[in-house]
Order: sequence, then C-alpha cells, then structure tokens
Amino acid sequence: MNVQTSVEADPILAGANETTKMAHKTTLLNPRFYTTDFDEMDAIDVTPVREAWDDLLAQMRADPNRNHFRKTEEWDEVDWDAMEPELRAEAIDFLVSSLTAEFSGCVLYKEMKRRGNNKDICELFSYMSRDEARHAGFINDALREAGIGVNLGFLTKTKKYTYFKPKFIYYATYLSEKIGYARYITIFRHLEEHPEHRFHPIFKWFENWCNDEHSHGEAFALLMKSDPKLTSGRNVWWIKFFLVAVFGTMWVRDHARRRFHEALGVDIDWYDQEVFRKTSIMARQIFPIELDIDHPSWRRGLVRLQRAFEAMDRASERGGLAGRLGRAVAGARAGLAFARLYFTPSRRTEPPANPRLRPAW
Ligand SMILES: [Fe+2]
Ligand SMILES: [Fe+2]
Repeated sequence: MNVQTSVEADPILAGANETTKMAHKTTLLNPRFYTTDFDEMDAIDVTPVREAWDDLLAQMRADPNRNHFRKTEEWDEVDWDAMEPELRAEAIDFLVSSLTAEFSGCVLYKEMKRRGNNKDICELFSYMSRDEARHAGFINDALREAGIGVNLGFLTKTKKYTYFKPKFIYYATYLSEKIGYARYITIFRHLEEHPEHRFHPIFKWFENWCNDEHSHGEAFALLMKSDPKLTSGRNVWWIKFFLVAVFGTMWVRDHARRRFHEALGVDIDWYDQEVFRKTSIMARQIFPIELDIDHPSWRRGLVRLQRAFEAMDRASERGGLAGRLGRAVAGARAGLAFARLYFTPSRRTEPPANPRLRPAW
C-alpha cells in the first residue's frame, strides 16, 4: 500500500515540504490532532486515587529522561541517499507518522495545561506535553538529517482537529500510550538480540523513551479510575470499540510497511500480535474487558480489514469514476470487516483497586 505520497492540491499547503504534507493529511488511518471539552477535563477530581497519583507525579516531576533525547556518540550517521528507495520511503513514512502521533499528544496536552485551572491536571499535562515535545523534536531531528524536517508550527495552525468527548480521549489516548510503550519496547528488545538489523540509530533510544509512554498511560489509567462510570455500564461497549479501532489501525498500517519490517528482521504478524498481547495484559489494570486476540475470527477479521484498505488504495491510484466506485466498495468492505472484528469474543476482567503498573518488558 502506498501511504507515503498522494496529497491533494490544497492552497494552504503551497510551499510546505513533502513530509509536512504527509503529516498534515488527515485520513482514517493517519494520526490525528484532537480537541476536546477542556472544562470538563479540568473538573476531574483525583482524590479517589490520590496516593497513586502523587507517587506518579513525583516520578514525572523528577524527569528521569531530562537528558535522554540528545544525540550522543551512539548516534551513527545514516546514509539516506544510499538507502534502497522502497525502504527509504517506508522508513520516512514510519518516522513521519510516529512524529505526528507524538506531536498530536504534545498539542493536546499543552492545550489542556493552558486552559486548565485544576492544579493536579495542569501539572500532569505540563509534564506530558514536555515529554511529547521532546519525542517529536527528536524524531524531527532525524528527519532533518535527511533534509526533510516537518514544519511543526505550520502543522499546529493548519492540521484538522478532531473533536472527541473527554471519555473518548481517555480511551483512545490511554491505548495509544500503552500501545506506544509496547511497540517501542518490543522493537528495542528485538534489536538488542539482532543488532545487525538496526538500520537507523533512533531505535537505540527506544528503551528509556518507552518509559515516558508507560507513565503517560499510567496517568490516563488513574484519571479513568477516579470516575468508575468511565469503565462501566454502556461505556464498556465504547472501550471495546476503541480496542478494536486502535489494534485494527495498527495492523493495517504496519502491514503497509513490509520492506521496513523486513529490514528490521521483524515478522509483522508476530510483532503486531506481540504488541496486542502486551497491551491487553497492561489494560487489565483499568479496562473491565479484554479482546480474545487468539480467537480465529480476530485474525481473519484483521486480514479482511487489511485487504479492504489495500483495495481502497488501489482504487484511489486508479482514479476516475471506476476508482471512486472501487473506493466505495472497498470502504464498505472495511466497514463490514470492522463490524466483524467488533463482534470478536471478549472476556470480562477484574481490574485491581490500585491500577499502578511498573514497566514489565
Ligand atoms: Fe511520546
Ligand atoms: Fe506519550
């Protein structure tokens, strides 16, 4: 699937470089920018989880990764020009989409801090936006080396913002933080064993990096724990929806980067399943439901979803009326595959009274 180019002509984008255009584009699968009801979020009372909250905030205040996001002698030169074109395109796509996701967190968290009056919430969001700004900045440095840095200021002003109610922000962001931790640590551990596959130095930074994402996920788990309504009743159906959406999106996007994973020596099916497993185990800390990711209909559904998105891409490339029709048909197929995934059996789980987890992998 070709996800790295194909940007519609948009006058706002005149003068923006290719990677900025890629990051600017909002599709079903690309990382989005979010906005929410900041007043409602500001009204959260963390008293019910005070002890765990203070412990987490103390850890974030200490800022263990203060000096981590700097190039050291560990950073090897990357010869982007010598890189095989397909790998180069997919590696850039990976970096740009990671950067957009990191920066999306930065923008949302910074806005919450700016608009809030609640001392607990403002402090948390100031640490999280600090971390995400570093993460995004570090990836952008790597892109700048290739001469293709993303214009983040431009993105903040021009990228579309999607409105989500606070509870949807909690489900989606909690999962993205935990899945981010699982993705980074799984790649890092794999490359520890197979350093010959480390084709870019940024992977060496993933170990400490993922601990930030882990803490961010912890914060969202505590926010949800402070209000039991968020993880009970009808909301359990929403939680299942977000589990399927976040896992399904990851599967489709990763399978669009075959050469990238081949260069890493990673089997994509194995890697994605491993990340789903780690994320599912962590999510037992707060979600009362878990997808049965070993059920045969889960895997079948993922493959159907992936095929539907591949068909959508092929139809877009074809263009014209046939292309539009093809897109509509493939879109319907994707919707059906998603609905089937949603009805994958799930298990009830019993979240503990204190949700706090330490990074375990
Ligand atoms: Fe991050
Ligand atoms: Fe994060």
